Amino acid sequence: MLDVFSGVVDLERAAPVSLYRQLYEQLRGAILDGRLPAGTRVPSSRAMAAQLGVARNTVLAAVEQLSAEGFLEARRGSGTLVSGQLSAGLTRAARKRSSGKRPAYSLSATGKRLASVIRTSDGGETPKPFMPGIPDTGAFPATIWARLLRRETQRLQPEALAYGWTAGHPRLREVLCAHLREMRGIQAGPEQIIVTSTAQAALDLLARALVDAGEKVWIEEPGYLGARAAFLGAGAELVPVRVDAHGLNPNGKHPRPRAIYVTPSHQYPTGRLMPLARRLELLDVAERHGAYVIEDDYDSEFQFQGRPVASLQGLDPEGRVLYVGTFSKILQPGLRVGYTVVPSALVDPLTRMQRNTGQIVPAAIQLALAAFIEEGHLRAHVRRMCTLYEQRQRVLAEGLSGLLDGQLGVEKPAGGMQLIAGLPEGWSDVEAVKALAARGVLARAVSGFYLGTAKRQGLLLGFAGYPSGAIEAGLKEIGGILPS
Ligand SMILES: Cc1ncc(COP(=O)(O)O)c(C=O)c1O
Repeated sequence: MLDVFSGVVDLERAAPVSLYRQLYEQLRGAILDGRLPAGTRVPSSRAMAAQLGVARNTVLAAVEQLSAEGFLEARRGSGTLVSGQLSAGLTRAARKRSSGKRPAYSLSATGKRLASVIRTSDGGETPKPFMPGIPDTGAFPATIWARLLRRETQRLQPEALAYGWTAGHPRLREVLCAHLREMRGIQAGPEQIIVTSTAQAALDLLARALVDAGEKVWIEEPGYLGARAAFLGAGAELVPVRVDAHGLNPNGKHPRPRAIYVTPSHQYPTGRLMPLARRLELLDVAERHGAYVIEDDYDSEFQFQGRPVASLQGLDPEGRVLYVGTFSKILQPGLRVGYTVVPSALVDPLTRMQRNTGQIVPAAIQLALAAFIEEGHLRAHVRRMCTLYEQRQRVLAEGLSGLLDGQLGVEKPAGGMQLIAGLPEGWSDVEAVKALAARGVLARAVSGFYLGTAKRQGLLLGFAGYPSGAIEAGLKEIGGILPS
C-alpha cells in the first residue's frame, strides 16, 4: 500500500517551504494529474510518517487540509481515500490545463488604450539629472512628517479606520480648502474637494465621469502624456490644440469638445503662463461649446518671481472648471496624494465612483497632511524649495547658454521644475536623448509630447531635484554631444 507514494512524494528538508506544505502540494498535484486516481487508499498517518521520516503531525496536517479541500475523503472501514468525486475526466482536464497553453491575455479596448501611452519606466530608478517632474525628495522634512504620521495614526477614530470618508477626511478637506483659497484663489467649499491618490487618479476619475467614448477632448499640443492617457482610457477622441506663447490657443477651428484640458500656471512641457486675457477667452470658448475645462495645477506653487497667478477655477463663476492638484511636486511623488475641486452637483456621483473603484487615500496620511499644512510646514517647505529651485534653474539655464555660443535657445520659465533647451538646426531630439542616455544623463525629447506631426525639437530638462554639482556634471555631458 505504501508503494502508491513512490515517485509521488519527495520531500526536501533544506527547502524554505515547510515539510507539511511540500507534502500537501505533492499529494494534491498527484491527485490532480491522475497519478493518484480516485479511490486510491492513503496509508495511515503513522505509516506515512514512518516511511517519509517526518513527524506524524506533519502528515496529519497535510491529510486534514486535503480532506477539507475535497481531495481526500474518509470512508468508514476503509480509512482515507482519494475522493471518489474526482473522476478520471476531471483530473485529465486538470492535467491538460497544467500542461501547457496559457490564455492569450488579450487586453480589453480600455486596457489597450490605457496602456498605449508609455511614460517613465516603472523600475524604481533613482531620479537623476535631468529627469523632469522630480522635486528634491531629499529635502522632504521626513522627521516632521514621521512625527505627525505617528501621532495621527494613534488618534485615528473608528470611522476613519472603517470605510468612512471615501472622498477625503473632513479635516483635510477643510484645511486644504483654506490653503487653496489663500494660495490659489480657489472659490469652493471644503465639501467640493475630493481627495485622490494622485493628480493622475483625479484626471482618470474626471475623464471617466464626464467623457463618453468617441467624445472629443481638446488637449494641449505639446502636452502632458498623463492627461492624454486618462482621456484615452475613457475612450475620448483627442484633439491636439496648439500651444503658443500664451498657452493653449482656443481660437482655432476645432471640433466641438466635451472637455478642454489645460495647465495654465506652467504649461507642460513649455512652462508658459496663460495670461488673464487668454484665460477669459478660454472660459468664453468653453461656455460657447458647453464644455468642461479641466485645470491641472500640478506645480504652480513654484513661482520664482512674484506670487503665483491665481487659478482659472477662481475666475469661473459658472462651475465649468474642474480643478486638479497634487502633492507630488510640492512635497514628493511617493506620498501619492492629489485632489480635485468640483461643482457641488458632481460631489455625490464622484464620491460613489471613488468608493466603487477603491482609489482612496489612507486616513492616516490624510490627517498627517492636514496637520502638516495647519502647522505651517507646507508653506515653509514651499518657500525653501522656491529659493533652491530658482538657484538650480539659474545654474542650468546659464550653463546651457554657455554651450554652443548660446545657440541652444533656452526658455526659462518664471517657475516650475523643468525647462526646454532648443537644439541646433537639423538635430533630432530623440537622437540627442539617446546620446545623452549613453552618457548616463536623462532628458526627454520635446517632440514626444506632440500628438500631431508638426513637432518642435528640444530637450526637456528637469532641474528641481538635483544639486548644482550634479546639474553641472550633466551640463558637461550635454556639451559632449554638441558639435564643437
Ligand atoms: C502636468 C502634470 N500633471 C500632473 C502630474 C502628476 O501628478 P501626480 O503625480 O499626482 O499624478 C505631473 C507630473 O509630472 C504633470 O507634469
